[in-house]
Amino acid sequence: MRIVFIGPPGAGKGTQCKRLAEHLDIPHLSTGEMLRQSRGDSAIGKLIASYIDHGRLAPDHLVMPIVTNRLSAPDCRRGCLFDGFPRTVTQAEQLDHYLSENHHQLDVVLHLDVAPTELARRLLHRATIEHRHDDTETTIKARLQVFHDQTKPVLDYYRRHGLVESIDGMQTPDQVFMQILDCLNSRH
Ligand code: AP5
Ligand code: MG
Repeated sequence: MRIVFIGPPGAGKGTQCKRLAEHLDIPHLSTGEMLRQSRGDSAIGKLIASYIDHGRLAPDHLVMPIVTNRLSAPDCRRGCLFDGFPRTVTQAEQLDHYLSENHHQLDVVLHLDVAPTELARRLLHRATIEHRHDDTETTIKARLQVFHDQTKPVLDYYRRHGLVESIDGMQTPDQVFMQILDCLNSRH
């Protein structure tokens, strides 16, 4: 199965992908994690850090090769979970192109829906535990705005393809996971 998770910062994409990847025994591809691992002292590493720390999206031409390179690994042959990718309509179009060239397609796009006040609460709480560079009040605001401006159109793109299922992300992680399993069962 190939499943895209779309949701604002703090919606629970990482939490749910981790569980579902274990359940389905397919890889969990988080572009956020991949980009964080590319931070560093090189020119490109500094550039990536500056996008993340300002809550802005890394450019498509930088993200796409990272993703397609990962997708070409043998463990992705049976499928994978996309966490936080695609985030722009261009990324979505390029993913479609890559998948169709490889005779694959997406099965479903899961939209995790969570109220903005709850997102901020979760991320500010996480900031006290994990110290992610982008979990500051200013950057959280920027990330939410970027989601609204650049990633919501991706949901519309997938709605036109009949792929979107909305999940109530305000419930407990267990309840959200059950909704996801129900949704996957009902589509098969
Ligand atoms: P990314 O790492 O994807 O971050 P994000 O989208 O901002 O989302 P988060 O990881 O903060 O939240 P999440 O939805 O995974 O929630 P989580 O499960 O952790 O991207 C970071 C940056 O990288 C971007 O800003 C951009 O710069 C760059 N980037 C990434 N992908 C890119 C792309 N495709 N193109 C260009 N640039 C890209 O949960 C959050 C917290 O809430 C946790 O503490 C968790 O324990 C808690 N929680 C989870 N579920 C629940 C629940 N149901 N109830 C209560 N608490 C919960
Ligand atoms: Mg995440």
